[in-house]
Amino acid sequence: MRDELLLGQVLTFSDDPFSAGWQAAAHHSARGGVLIRAGRIAATGAADDLRRTHPHAPVSDYGEALILPGFVDAHMHYPQTGMIASWGKRLIDWLNTYTFPEEMRFGDPGYARAQADLTLDLALAHGTTTLASFCTVHPESVTAVFEAAEARGMAVVAGKTCMDRNAPDALRDTAQTAYDDSKALLETWHGRGRATYAITPRFSPTSTPDQLAALGALWAEHPDCLMQTHLSEQTDEVAWVRALFPQARDYLDTYEAHALLGARGLYGHAIHLEAREIDRLAEVGAAAVHCPTSNTFIGSGLFDTAGLKARGIPVGLATDTGGGSSFSMLRTMAAAYEIGQLRGTALHPAHLLWLATEGAARALHMGGQIGTLAPGAHADICVLDLASTPAIAQRSARAEDIWEALFPTLMMGDDRAVRAVRVAGVPLQGAVSTAPGSA
Ligand code: GUN
Ligand code: ZN
Repeated sequence: MRDELLLGQVLTFSDDPFSAGWQAAAHHSARGGVLIRAGRIAATGAADDLRRTHPHAPVSDYGEALILPGFVDAHMHYPQTGMIASWGKRLIDWLNTYTFPEEMRFGDPGYARAQADLTLDLALAHGTTTLASFCTVHPESVTAVFEAAEARGMAVVAGKTCMDRNAPDALRDTAQTAYDDSKALLETWHGRGRATYAITPRFSPTSTPDQLAALGALWAEHPDCLMQTHLSEQTDEVAWVRALFPQARDYLDTYEAHALLGARGLYGHAIHLEAREIDRLAEVGAAAVHCPTSNTFIGSGLFDTAGLKARGIPVGLATDTGGGSSFSMLRTMAAAYEIGQLRGTALHPAHLLWLATEGAARALHMGGQIGTLAPGAHADICVLDLASTPAIAQRSARAEDIWEALFPTLMMGDDRAVRAVRVAGVPLQGAVSTAPGSA
């Protein structure tokens, strides 16, 4: 495959900006380039240097647009795309009223595939090239999203959502069928192409201790798989978990006691944490996934990004659609900023961008492979127009540095800011807005 050169503004990270400081970790080139070879990043550097050293490489020149890694959405529910923005309920009522009825439709493989195709196309149009999705109880729903991802060349994480209590009959499996179905699916999909399997107990209230133990045993047998679930999202939910698991020290302990706490574990929301839970997440290196538009939309609470990062806990950023109210990781960064402000910490644009790319990739144990422009990574790329609407353009025109130029797009941008997307080097055709002069 021929080399190819993308030119524009380029931002890279050499370190975690939370621990190293954003000034040391982030690097901006106003006229930079990214060299793609065989679907991977071969080099980044100054545009002139790369042109000189690769004179025959075809060039896509994006001018003043910003070349970034594709966004990584570390927690979402593709089966909830059809009921995103459903009004007026808090978590448990929202699940029973809107979510479970929609999830019942995914026993139909045709419907599951249509929703998987729709969701992945929406994600790509918003510059998201990898997502970690819950599926439904139906194995067909897992097959559908992995097949849709394979057709697009996308690295996707997914797993069958297991529930054997406190859910409608049509959405319940058992401890044994959860184990058997998950095992068959992970044996088919985990590591096939770019697919990663995540063992997926929905959350402790919808699994019996027997089911949690069965899935913990499965994870021990396949420790290279991820495990994704929900943790301490709303105070009512935490109280319910206490009532359902009277022996547990806290919510995290309901997972820990069943071998479902580990470094490859992804714990969505993680808002109302006790000191022991924070200690244990830090000790095992498990990831907390911040879902800010969901946390405001469902009324859950204020995630402590700065506090958990300061404890060394890996943090990923995520839409949590359809509990989240947007497919856009730009809108998600804006919500993370707003929640940071409500907690007294103004997250820098470098922090936000890192959380939406490399931070989320590291949470998924895909650091170095996605979410970065480092040589060797897959060429999953998003090019952002930093003047995509009149309101954003007038503000970024006054900017004195890249951060001031970028921040209006992080706060006010949406899919109109996504100028180009590549998956493993291949340009996305059609779905992305084509601004005048786009390459
Ligand atoms: N907790 C258990 N299931 C869900 C879900 O589907 N969405 C959210 N936001 N929280 C959950
Ligand atoms: Zn969720």
